[in-house]
Amino acid sequence: MKEKIIELLRNTCSGTPLSGVEMSNQLGISRVAIWKHLKQLKERGYGIVATPKGYLLKGGEDLMMPLFFTKRDDRIHLFKTLSSTMDKARELAREGAPHLSVVIAEEQSMGRGRLNRTWLSGKGGLWFTIILRPDLPPPLAFQVNFAASLTLARTLKSRYELPVSVKWPNDLLLDEKKLAGLLSEMETHGDMISFVNIGIGLNVNNTPEVGEPNSISIKSALEKSICRRELLSAFLDDFEKELMVLQSLKTYSVTLMEQWKQMTSTIGKDVRIETFGDIYRGVAVDVDLTGALIIREADGVEKKIIYGDCFHHNPNPA
Ligand code: BTN
Repeated sequence: MKEKIIELLRNTCSGTPLSGVEMSNQLGISRVAIWKHLKQLKERGYGIVATPKGYLLKGGEDLMMPLFFTKRDDRIHLFKTLSSTMDKARELAREGAPHLSVVIAEEQSMGRGRLNRTWLSGKGGLWFTIILRPDLPPPLAFQVNFAASLTLARTLKSRYELPVSVKWPNDLLLDEKKLAGLLSEMETHGDMISFVNIGIGLNVNNTPEVGEPNSISIKSALEKSICRRELLSAFLDDFEKELMVLQSLKTYSVTLMEQWKQMTSTIGKDVRIETFGDIYRGVAVDVDLTGALIIREADGVEKKIIYGDCFHHNPNPA
């Protein structure tokens, strides 16, 4: 019922209130019952305001609270501030949080990126970690990262017509500038995956270019803010479907990697790969079925790189 009340109140964001009588008529429950639900929703932090003409929901279009995620609300964990959604997600996963639970933070004080980099996480961005319990053996777990970056790229392309590309291993670029980064952490139990947590930092309504000149947000690209909830919901729906396909295979997915390669801007570029101890340079020639990047070094020798941070050197070849 609370979900239905929120659904009705969502329309009041534009400023036209809805009375208790109207709600009780539309939902077929008493005004007292409506009032009790509204009280509980307010206690849970929903910005419901009583006016002489009825109730209003405050917070604009970009409402991120769990009940706004229809059918997912019990798996959405929203926080104003966290050190990192990765830490909270790990804690919840160890406590048994189910598959596709999502930890979202409006801000992170110690957001982290790959290779221990800092990830700037001010207000307006979408900073979240998805807890996954895929029915896959650990050596195939990397596929969920590729599925996540591919799905996110597709969601952004289809909903917002953003010409995004994926950069090996799992970044999203727009005009060769960083739009999103993915970070994953896994725990195993015996030869089973206990959980894989995928952290996604997506620049949405923030202005990351102030601190990171080589980055971009959806807002800067579209010159308008967008609803982060709609974007996240669409992505989660698409990703859930993609995961089901992946799990049904139980082996390396040729289709996944082919589709990912169709969206990558890494292949064909001069690249520099930084790992914890080494730097490699060459032309990116392929990404194989295990997700490894194949580069051709200056002496013509091909090298297989299984992890690292990749930098494109001729970002816009003629
Ligand atoms: C990278 O490109 O290096 C990966 C960046 C990942 C950032 C996200 S934001 C949500 C989640 N929490 C973190 O601390 N990091 C990931």
